[in-house]
Amino acid sequence: MKKYKRHLVTSALPYANGPLHIGHIAGAYLPADIYVRFLRMKGEDVAFICGSDEHGAAITIQAKREGVTPQQVVDKYHTINKKAFEDFGIAFDIYHRTSSELHHKTASDFFTVLNAKGDFEKRESEQFYDEEAKQFLADRYIIGTCPKCSYENAYGDQCENCGSSLNPTDLINPRSTLSGGKPVLKKTVHWYLPMNEDEEWVKTFINEGTIDGYEHHNPKNWKNHVLGQCNSWLDSGLQPRAMTRDLDWGVKVPLEEADGKVLYVWLDAPIGYISATKQWAEDNDKEWSDYWQSKSTKLVHFIGKDNIVFHCIIFPILLKRHGDFILPNNVPANEFLNLEGQKLSTSKNWAVWLHEYMEDFAERQDVLRYVLCSIAPEAKDSEFTWKDFQARNNNELVAILGNFVNRAIVLTHKYFDGKVPESKVDTAVLNTVCNHYDKVEEAILKYNFRQALAEAMNVARIGNKYLADSEPWKLIKTDPAKTAEIIHTSLLIATHLSHILEPFLPHTMKKLRGLLNIKNHLSWHFEETQLLRPGQQVNPAEHLFTPIEDSTIEAQIQKLENNKKAKATQTNGQAKTPISFEDFTKLDLKVVTILEAEKVPKTNKLLKLKVDLGDEQRTVVSGIAGSYSPEDIIGRQVILLANLEPRKIKGIESQGMILMADGEGEDLSFVSPEKKVDNGGKVS
Ligand code: MF3
Ligand code: ZN
Repeated sequence: MKKYKRHLVTSALPYANGPLHIGHIAGAYLPADIYVRFLRMKGEDVAFICGSDEHGAAITIQAKREGVTPQQVVDKYHTINKKAFEDFGIAFDIYHRTSSELHHKTASDFFTVLNAKGDFEKRESEQFYDEEAKQFLADRYIIGTCPKCSYENAYGDQCENCGSSLNPTDLINPRSTLSGGKPVLKKTVHWYLPMNEDEEWVKTFINEGTIDGYEHHNPKNWKNHVLGQCNSWLDSGLQPRAMTRDLDWGVKVPLEEADGKVLYVWLDAPIGYISATKQWAEDNDKEWSDYWQSKSTKLVHFIGKDNIVFHCIIFPILLKRHGDFILPNNVPANEFLNLEGQKLSTSKNWAVWLHEYMEDFAERQDVLRYVLCSIAPEAKDSEFTWKDFQARNNNELVAILGNFVNRAIVLTHKYFDGKVPESKVDTAVLNTVCNHYDKVEEAILKYNFRQALAEAMNVARIGNKYLADSEPWKLIKTDPAKTAEIIHTSLLIATHLSHILEPFLPHTMKKLRGLLNIKNHLSWHFEETQLLRPGQQVNPAEHLFTPIEDSTIEAQIQKLENNKKAKATQTNGQAKTPISFEDFTKLDLKVVTILEAEKVPKTNKLLKLKVDLGDEQRTVVSGIAGSYSPEDIIGRQVILLANLEPRKIKGIESQGMILMADGEGEDLSFVSPEKKVDNGGKVS
């Protein structure tokens, strides 16, 4: 650490179009907060920067859906998220906003500097355009059928059903979410960053940690999965990327010829780190450039794994091309957190929302901090379950940490009038305790927060064992001097706990220092006997943690299920525009019998069916393999929409569509006539 004079620590700017959930917290915010709280205790100069990412198509879509302006959307979620972070104890130095004027100016100037150097290539390309809405469509504005799994509501950039990343032109039957119409391809001009020119130095930067021969960082300190993702990107070759978009919400491209265009996320959100630092510096009489433009600053980006390439490759390229900026010393990205066996999903409302947790467990921020740090997906995906949450609270926080502290304080009152005994102390035990500071420090500096927390908790284990082994409640009758020594030593261990656990459990450790009646002196190195002196009065015992009942946990599990169901009904039940009877009669619905069925090779969900319409037979591709096996459905009568435009799915022409009822989860069910009907029978 000596090498650096100061630290710049950032956490990914969350989009201000929704609330935060535990996956976000475990990924990018809690680890950063622990790291920063530790650095502050070490007396280091730190700026901890974050804010709302308030631009992008998702926000404009949300605004349309809610019938409000994008500014209203971001105002709402900026306030909710800022408060949730504060309540939870993520101690940013600033939580800024990208809709601020300072940010717009900073991002716009950044573009101008690069543009003046000739760093962009202007290119014409064809993109989807909605002629009714008269605007180009962001990838997210286009939905259509996924070419991989035939899910019908895949987005232009990604299919949420099978997870494939897509280009809008990959979609079968693309439709605009603005007008519902079929988008057309139209020419547009954008400013591209020719990242292919940067490939060589980026490879060296990532894998050797050097830039133009200068030793920047040690790649051995980077996480394997981070290096892995970077290299798989680099191996497929860096491509020029558009840095602008056709959208009217965002930082305007500062050129007359670029009317109606804004800076794309690359040149917007991460510049938010810089503009936020500028605001913080202005408010606190600091120089922002000390933090961004001095080689004696250590820059670390905390993010989730979906942002690795962005922070390790694209943003560094922008910073280096601009010149004068430092590059990240490390990007300790976390992997993903799952919830009760399923992926966290905002669209399915499968999440524990931070602001809701705070409502249900007001004073228990540290329990969630403890659990999320204990299971943080540092090197691979991990899982949160409410049962595990309860177990860690009851068996670790209550039974080990809380129990030790409580016994130490209760015994002080019982035997010594609540005063720290005048006695010698057990230096052997205290030395063992003190060894843990280095262990915790080492783990934190390697971004191994799980291990760091486990080492810190070991101090509580040492305390518990010390009391259990020495049994002061028995000794008090025969050896009051020894008892005094044990209690005194235990109180000193509690004093250490209130420091070594501070980065992880700040609310509880503050409370503990209150119980011990010691100064809120936050330092990683201190003389315990200076803080807690013999004769000093200790406050009455209070529980640091209380057990969580089964019923509380069951209620949370029930809440998850309810939220998910409510969301599913909401999405399915979205009212559609009324249509005339005449429109309905345009549908040619027929009873057909399935004659043949087979799996479409290399797909999970698709079956190729041969169906009999009475006077003809047709081939239909249907995404039902998840619910039916081919051999079980031969001979079944089902309903076919016979006059749907034929379309090619996986190279097979599908001549119609079988009607299916959407069941629970992924389960589909045929719609069938109740009695046998002649094939070709009309459905109306
Ligand atoms: N808001 C974006 C996201 O959540 C980008 C965050 S990273 C930043 O993925 F660098 F842009 F802040
Ligand atoms: Zn798909």
